[in-house]
Amino acid sequence: MHQRDRVEAATFAAKANINREQYEQLCAQAVQDPDGFWAGLAQRLHWYRFPTRIRDVSYDLRDFRIRWYEDGVLNASVNCLDRHLDSNGDKVALIFEPDDPDAPVQKLTYRELHARVCRLANALRNLGVGKGDRVTIYLPMIPEAVVAMLACARIGAVHSVVFGGFAPQSVADRIADCGSKLVITADEGLRGGRRIPLKANVDAALKLPGTHSVETVLVVRHTGAAVPMQMPRDRWFDAVVDGQPDSCEPAQMNAEDPLFILYTSGSTGKPKGVLHTTGGYLVWASYTHALVFDLKPEDVFWCTADIGWITGHSYVVYGPLANGCTQVIFEGVPNHPDVSRFWQVVDRHQVSIFYTAPTAIRALMREGDAPVRATSRTSLRLLGSVGEPINPEAWRWYFEVVGEGRCPIVDTWWQTETGGILISPIPGATDLKPGSATRPLPGIRPALVDATGTLLEGEAEGNLVLLDSWPGQMRTVYGDHQRFIDTYFKTYPGMYFTGDGCRRDADGDYWITGRVDDVINVSGHRIGTAEVESALVAHPAVAEAAVVGVPHPVKGQGIYAYVTLVAGEQETEELRQALVAQVRQMIGPIATPDVIQWAPALPKTRSGKIMRRILRKIAEDAPEQLGDTSTLADPSVVDALLRGRPR
Ligand code: WTA
Repeated sequence: MHQRDRVEAATFAAKANINREQYEQLCAQAVQDPDGFWAGLAQRLHWYRFPTRIRDVSYDLRDFRIRWYEDGVLNASVNCLDRHLDSNGDKVALIFEPDDPDAPVQKLTYRELHARVCRLANALRNLGVGKGDRVTIYLPMIPEAVVAMLACARIGAVHSVVFGGFAPQSVADRIADCGSKLVITADEGLRGGRRIPLKANVDAALKLPGTHSVETVLVVRHTGAAVPMQMPRDRWFDAVVDGQPDSCEPAQMNAEDPLFILYTSGSTGKPKGVLHTTGGYLVWASYTHALVFDLKPEDVFWCTADIGWITGHSYVVYGPLANGCTQVIFEGVPNHPDVSRFWQVVDRHQVSIFYTAPTAIRALMREGDAPVRATSRTSLRLLGSVGEPINPEAWRWYFEVVGEGRCPIVDTWWQTETGGILISPIPGATDLKPGSATRPLPGIRPALVDATGTLLEGEAEGNLVLLDSWPGQMRTVYGDHQRFIDTYFKTYPGMYFTGDGCRRDADGDYWITGRVDDVINVSGHRIGTAEVESALVAHPAVAEAAVVGVPHPVKGQGIYAYVTLVAGEQETEELRQALVAQVRQMIGPIATPDVIQWAPALPKTRSGKIMRRILRKIAEDAPEQLGDTSTLADPSVVDALLRGRPR
């Protein structure tokens, strides 16, 4: 394998949509003529009324506002469907690849997808769902998931998609927080041959407090499993939807009307309902999808993310469909029935652009080159990475083995909060560096600050902030605008704080180093330490818990929990397993602790604050990096914990 540090853009440039010069021109225009630049991006969409007020933003806390295209009027589903019908109605929009490779593949054209969305939208209206009402979607990666999101968008209802891996308590919390009127789920999900009891989870969630707002549960028949239906609340999706007219008058939405809520973990308390609005979000999803993936009409795009995450929202649903692109949606997992599965799907559907997470790359890399080489992959021309830092070794394997040195990798940095990609190479315009997200997209103004908020110039390492807004920026935390401001705009006045650490090299390229707050990134999924801690202390045997992230070879970070028991409880293997089960039951399998260490006491300052920095170093087994422990109320705690590490 070549140990190249830099992969020249030139090799791809001849075929690319934009070259380096054009990229630089776009960046310059965004600075010199911002209104012209941002209005130009809005022209990608169909508007009932094109906006004249392009941007109105102030990060000043006394006069805080973020508004984009605010007098524009549009409908997101019309942009993703109707406007393609005349020219491209028979083009395939979705290629559905089921979990079982022997089950039939489904292909839906734009016309068929449009009809299905309209039928559901009509059904939702008949069930009394209207503009501004919240709808929770808890579905597997099946076409109905896309249909459900777009049907909400069509009638102006606000969708809140909850990842199918979340447990009933998490589903209930998310329903209660936004007061959903209706839930769309399936009998079961399928992942790697395992059945996920989605309907049963919804039943359990709706028994929990705070969920009384739900009037109707629509149930998609997916595996055909027998599930109890509670009348009149529960209705079969097909019974309600079949027979509805296949056209539906779209709601005319203001650009700043909410499009969706998506819950994500922060460093404190319960998950936040990140709210995105219609106009700016859709402009940004569409623009970045076309720009970063060098999109061409004949491409077959495949983003492996679940629609339960922001990547699935922006680069499975809104970006690709707004751009009229053909894409694969995949219900399964990379290692079922075997570890060639991804590449078999690439060959089967002639995928040209493939977008996945580093954790999947690292897991497959461990299986060696043979399962990759057993497939052809000649259709691939571009690869992407998202969700966590990609280590250079995994980057090189992805580049050399999967892409055979032919496909640029776009390492895309962004967040649920940003709505779309902000820092990424642009194929043909940017030289690639393994492990670096490289450059900001045109119009994006990243900067590094030190702990006091002083801007760092040139080559530097610090906290990543954004100095100005972009259309896809979240607008609020649902129901708690103050929390939005406190979380993102108070740490460094006048700037949006990302929560990430970052290094900028001498060439001006950005290298994200990971979260600097109490968020753990496990396989690209954000998990708040506070959430895991509260699930642990909910167990009667637990007095106190502290959770930190620890480096993990495949998952990026693992979950390491320190648990102090109440007096008289025994530190048994049985209890350890019960605690793991408790977390899985309350949050979901993605939050499963990798390690539980019994902690007779936790390292605290004299004012009682837990010193997580020290707990991280103990978890990493790096006693030499403990630093100053003299400020601890009882420094001997550290030795006890070092000795007590589980083997
Ligand atoms: C991390 C996912 C390094 C980062 C789109 C961010 C990354 C968090 C990258 C957001 C990348 C995402 N390189 N780190 N290319 N992309 N991250 O909200 O820590 O699920 O803050 O959005 O993932 O995770 P979220």
